[in-house]
Amino acid sequence: MFDNRKVVFSGVQPSGNLTIGNYLGAIKNFTAFPEDTMRFYCVVDLHAITVRQVPAELRRRTYETLALYIACGLDPQKNTLFVQSQVPAHAELGWILDCYTMFGELSRMTQFKDKSAKHADNINAGLFTYPSLMAADILLYQTDIVPVGIDQKQHLELARDVANRFNTVHGDTFVVPEPYIPASGMKIMSLQDPASKMSKSDPNENAVVRILDEPDAIMRKFKRAVTDSDSRVARGEGKDGINNLISIYCAFTGKTAEETEREFDGKGYGGFKAAVGEVCVSALRPVQEEFARLMADKAYLESVMKQGAETAAYYARKTMSKVRRKLGFVG
Ligand code: TRP
Repeated sequence: MFDNRKVVFSGVQPSGNLTIGNYLGAIKNFTAFPEDTMRFYCVVDLHAITVRQVPAELRRRTYETLALYIACGLDPQKNTLFVQSQVPAHAELGWILDCYTMFGELSRMTQFKDKSAKHADNINAGLFTYPSLMAADILLYQTDIVPVGIDQKQHLELARDVANRFNTVHGDTFVVPEPYIPASGMKIMSLQDPASKMSKSDPNENAVVRILDEPDAIMRKFKRAVTDSDSRVARGEGKDGINNLISIYCAFTGKTAEETEREFDGKGYGGFKAAVGEVCVSALRPVQEEFARLMADKAYLESVMKQGAETAAYYARKTMSKVRRKLGFVG
């Protein structure tokens, strides 16, 4: 906290075409915080380069991610929307926190283990220290609340440990952040392999529904979703596919799983899959329209980035001068 307002911070990587998992699990929840909080939402391009990026694509996706923030309902007048690399304090605090993060802690991160298995030819040091940069993002703004999907919980716990460790050595410096993982922040699973997470980099397009997919592509993907040999629309053991479709339906409609099971009682999988597709299409339509309008106005997006980076840098500076003093850096 910088004043009496609670601080909310979160980040999304500009490293792929975002999925309904990113939307339901993260971005949609960003709009849920009350007016009397201070909200920072960052496009984390420094994190994205831990795996190889094509520069022109990274640039385009940075604009797109910012446009999606706005299209999903984040008003740039009320939220600080910014690009991580435009505020150098992230990299600076990232290095400092590297020196307060243990090798053993980083070795235990499941995302590191997964990504290094997937990118075996490029297990770079940045991939390894990714969580201390993420801790820097959060701690720089004296963040109280971090809305994230469940897959980021382990990184959040590390950020808390690092904050506590620094505070123990140097006296109160950082607010210790709390994760905020709403019920709808549950994992959205792949439509083709519902035992694994829906991933924006899945090579099988049928497995992933993207925020910017055309309506007929969305309908087709849901109709092809892998289910099971049962035919009841009801949650259960061994029914990962149906469990996932029920979660998606609930997240888009706000209904409970029980209500959904009742609604589709005796109706079979075909009709249910089409219904999930329809609620998804209609929820995404306004987002897609606003996104298209924003992407046609680069100058506006650039003005949002510039304003956002200035506001973020102002608060980052406050934390950095405290950190520098505590560490014994001169000036
Ligand atoms: N690691 C997050 C992800 O992959 C992105 C991220 C970077 C983030 N910095 C953050 C999320 C700070 C919340 C807070 O989704």
